[in-house]
Formats: sequence, structure tokens, C-alpha cells
Amino acid sequence: MLHDIPVNDLRRASPAQEADLRAAVERVLGSGWYVLGPENEAFEAEFAASVGVAHCVGVGNGTDALQLALLAVGCRPGDEVVTAADAGGYTTTAALAAGLVPRPADVDPRSLLLTADTAAAQLTERTRAVVVTHLYGMLADVAPLRALCADAGVALVEDCAQAAGARGGEGAAGSLGDVATFSFFPTKNLGALGDGGAVVTGDPEVAERVRRLRQYGWTSKYTSTVPAGRNSRLDELQAAVLLARLPGLPGWNARRRAIVASYHEALGDGERRMVHGAAAGSPAYVGHLAVLVSPDRKADRRALAAAGIRTDVHYPVPDHRQPVLAEAARGLRLPVAERAAETVLTVPCFPEMTDEEVRRVSAALAAL
Ligand SMILES: Cc1ncc(COP(=O)(O)O)c(C=O)c1O
Repeated sequence: MLHDIPVNDLRRASPAQEADLRAAVERVLGSGWYVLGPENEAFEAEFAASVGVAHCVGVGNGTDALQLALLAVGCRPGDEVVTAADAGGYTTTAALAAGLVPRPADVDPRSLLLTADTAAAQLTERTRAVVVTHLYGMLADVAPLRALCADAGVALVEDCAQAAGARGGEGAAGSLGDVATFSFFPTKNLGALGDGGAVVTGDPEVAERVRRLRQYGWTSKYTSTVPAGRNSRLDELQAAVLLARLPGLPGWNARRRAIVASYHEALGDGERRMVHGAAAGSPAYVGHLAVLVSPDRKADRRALAAAGIRTDVHYPVPDHRQPVLAEAARGLRLPVAERAAETVLTVPCFPEMTDEEVRRVSAALAAL
């Protein structure tokens, strides 16, 4: 009897890393320092260097990273933030928490990513920031977005939660806009053993504002000068785990790319295709999620389940159809994002998948 192949299995990552993780945890246990200490400082320095930017600020999670980054680039209550409508709603959540107004935008029908054209359609004179999500681990075409934002005088924020380690001709994910955010949720390509996040930027003033915002708005201990300050810090255990794991990221990303390349070869490039299959060999793609578009998702899910292959949907509800935005976005039509919500289908992809499992998923995709 063949076993079911999960979409992800975090237990499989730990055995190979056990010695490194135990050493990291023991170091923190022995230090007596558990929040914003030497591990966080070391991780911030190494992660900034890996992205190729001057500053990294560790925070509590990727949603907080978005919220604090938006505030740090100058968004104020009532300002509008343009965001891809198919990217899971995280920017919308962060914007609403900061008192901002999310403006969901449509996406490119092939890449399902935000473009300068789709963002421009939602820009108004109240827009203060555009957030581009490198969805599923694929670097968006940032240069035209940067030009659009520069022209409009608004900030460009990269949401790199799904794209740690992705690298294009102009540099790594996180180095291409004014500020960028990461999540280290355990399922991410660089995952902690709990929640974690970071804001990275080349701008020392933006970095300093995030440092204050993440800790009560303090400029110095017990003196709050920045409104909307929070408690959102990366704890030492997570920082130590992330430090231990960071060197493994390029290898895990390469494995993810190889897995999606195999699915792409099996599925072909017709109406049913891997969304980023054609980029599966490129360093601009890190295979965070292996997502196909399916003209008949229900039937495909059934066929894959029968072959013992688990699936998921990222994401079934576009931002402008979320109940929290229903009123504000009434009448807004974003046809590509709406169609994507009905047709995207996620199949298993994680670095520890066996070759046999990759063959089984590939064969099942070829049979669809
Ligand atoms: C694209 C994207 N942005 C933001 C987030 C939010 O990160 P977190 O769960 O750490 O708050 C996630 C993941 O959850 C994500 O996938």
C-alpha cells in the first residue's frame, strides 16, 4: 500500500539538522537572554548580508513585518496601499491593522503576479505604498513597478515571505524596493520553529523607525516617541534556529526548483500548467509552493487524492472578496485574481521529498 504524499512535512527536515538545532537551542538556554539579544543581532547581520542590503530588523512574524514596514515608509491612517488580490490577504490584514486602506489589484494572467499595469489601475492620489508579493517563490518584475512608484512618489514594498533566496539580474528578493518583509513561519523556505519575521532595507532611517516601532515606539529605554509602536520582536530561540538554518537555504531552494521542474515536464504547458514551471530552472524562482492552474480543479483534486497525493489551495478567496473588505470593495472586478481563486491547486513540494515521491506526483500530474 502506497503512503499518502503530504503537501509539506516539517518533521522530515529535523533529523538531518538535529545536531545544529540542539546546539542552537542549548546556546540560548545557557545564555539567559531570550528576546532581542546576541542571536538576533547575529542573525540580522547575516540575513542582511545574504539579501545584499545594509539593514535587517527581526520582528515577531511576517504580518507584523508588513505592518511596521508600511508605517516606517511613512503611511499614515487613511492612506491607501495597493496590493495583489491573489496573495493570501496578508498585506490587507497588515494594512487594516495599521489603519490604512487596502486597494486590491489584479495580476498578470500567466505569472499571477502584480505588474506595473495592474498596480497602476488602482493608484489614486491617496496611495502611499505599493506592496509586491513574490508569490509562490517567483520574483515579480520589479523594475517597472519601481519606475511607477518613483513617478507617483509612493513607496515600493516587497513581500518576500515566499521568496527567501530568490535572485534576479538586479539582486536578491528583498533588495529591489524601498523596504522588504520576510516571514519565517515554519513552512517557509527559511523557517523557524515558531513565528518569526524580518524587515530589510538599505535605508538607515526606515530601519531605525522599524527598530522603534517593534519595541513600544521607544527611542531609548522607557521613552516612547513613535506613535503606533508595538511589541513585535524576534526571540533568541528563533534567531538561533534561523542562524543555524540560513546556510542550508540555497541547497533547499535548488531541490524545490528541481521538484517543480519535474512537475512542469510531466504536465506540459497547455491549459493545465505549473504556474511558474517555465521558470523552474531559474534562480529567480525558489519553489515555495508548487502551484498548477487547473481547468477542472475539483476533478483534478479527486484524481490526485485517489493516487495518494494531497493537495491544497493557495488561495481560495481573493482580497476584494474577503468579508473584511466586502463593503469597501463592492463592485470591484479583478477577473484574473477571481479566476485564479477558482483554478489554482497546490501539490506537494518540500526539499525532503524522496525521488520516488517526486516521480509519483509527476506521474499523477502527467495522467491528469
Ligand atoms: C506572501 C505572504 N505574506 C505574508 C505572510 C505572513 O507571514 P506570517 O504568517 O509570519 O505573519 C505570509 C505567510 O503566512 C505569506 O505567505
